[in-house]
Amino acid sequence: MSSQAGKTLQAIKFDREQVTLQILDQLLLPYNSQYIDVSTISTGYDVIKSMQVRGAPAIAIVGCFSIIVELHTAIVAKQNDFQYTLNDFAVFKTQLVARIHYLISSRPTAVNLSNACNEIIALVESHSNSSSAAALYAAIYSYGVQLYDDDLANNFRIGANGVAYMNQILGGENATPYSIMTVCNTGALATSGHGTALGIIRSAWRSPSSDLKHVFPLETRPYNQGARLTAYELVYENIAATLITDSMASYLIHTLKQQQDAAKPPIRFIIVGADRIVRNGDTANKIGTFQLATIAEHNPDIRFIVAAPKTTIDLKMASGAEIVIEQRPGAELTQVTGGVIDPVTSSVRVLETGAEIGKVGVGAPGISVWNPAFDVTPYQLIDAIVTEDKVVVKGPDGKFDLVGLF
Ligand code: MRU
Repeated sequence: MSSQAGKTLQAIKFDREQVTLQILDQLLLPYNSQYIDVSTISTGYDVIKSMQVRGAPAIAIVGCFSIIVELHTAIVAKQNDFQYTLNDFAVFKTQLVARIHYLISSRPTAVNLSNACNEIIALVESHSNSSSAAALYAAIYSYGVQLYDDDLANNFRIGANGVAYMNQILGGENATPYSIMTVCNTGALATSGHGTALGIIRSAWRSPSSDLKHVFPLETRPYNQGARLTAYELVYENIAATLITDSMASYLIHTLKQQQDAAKPPIRFIIVGADRIVRNGDTANKIGTFQLATIAEHNPDIRFIVAAPKTTIDLKMASGAEIVIEQRPGAELTQVTGGVIDPVTSSVRVLETGAEIGKVGVGAPGISVWNPAFDVTPYQLIDAIVTEDKVVVKGPDGKFDLVGLF
């Protein structure tokens, strides 16, 4: 991914030759682009838990790469600070699986991380005790780089499938100018590149067959992924966009219908990503997604679309009632992280270092806080699930068939 005036959209830098990993610190974006070294599973756990890297596909990839760099240090570079028992393969396998379970516990809701880690555990178990740590490392390395490459390719396929679906709904090529609303960050920063929901927006913006005119990202309190990250990606790409707060969605939809502005036509699609889509189609995604689906339900000319790779689908869970929703610290709600305002221009300075980025209190000290990171949208409110393979819509029975994707 390219960089522009020191800015970058590349969330994950994995050097395939040197076997080193760096992640873009998303707590400092959009005012500073700074990479952090991730050299162990423990640092992988920390950057995922602190949300220095976030987004379901990105945390899965960083998790896998953190396993690879740790194993490379121990097995290839032979600096075994992790106290693996390398002279007893059976013991080593048990130790590694324990480390991977610890990594999985960093964030519970997004299934991509546990799906990928469980694939690695299956690789560990498929190596008999007469195999070697070096052979197992090679298999895990191949799995990790394939996961990254597949994610990138699949995002472009999700983008193309999403554009085709929207064109079909709008009645053919160049039929209707439209706007899109989205929440959270589902772009290059949340994936290996391009993105899922934001990937569809990127693809539509670039497509001659689409008449997308404007994008409205929600701020996405409390962590502000929309205001900080999606807005940053949209500005970077020169996509026409206007930021709104989460509470403005209904009134914006109403206003756009009334005002008949050719540059900002009515919202026809609300497109969101997913952290876990279960068998019946119930979808866990960033807090605020459920209310957008409810708004779409009350506006028959708006389709509510979930965009996600198949790595986000969890067929083991029958319905959303089984999904564990991550609770985040209350301080994420009562404090916001921001850059320093330049006294001359009155805008936030783009900084040379992250040192000037700090927290500001916005909640009364002592107030108790509820801070679920995600909510679950019932499948009934979802019109389409766009995957890399196909767009899944409900059948005549009103149900999604996600099993048929596998
Ligand atoms: O808490 P976050 O920022 O990790 O939440 C991210 C989301 O909810 C995204 O919509 C989802 O992970 C899909 S990212 C392609």
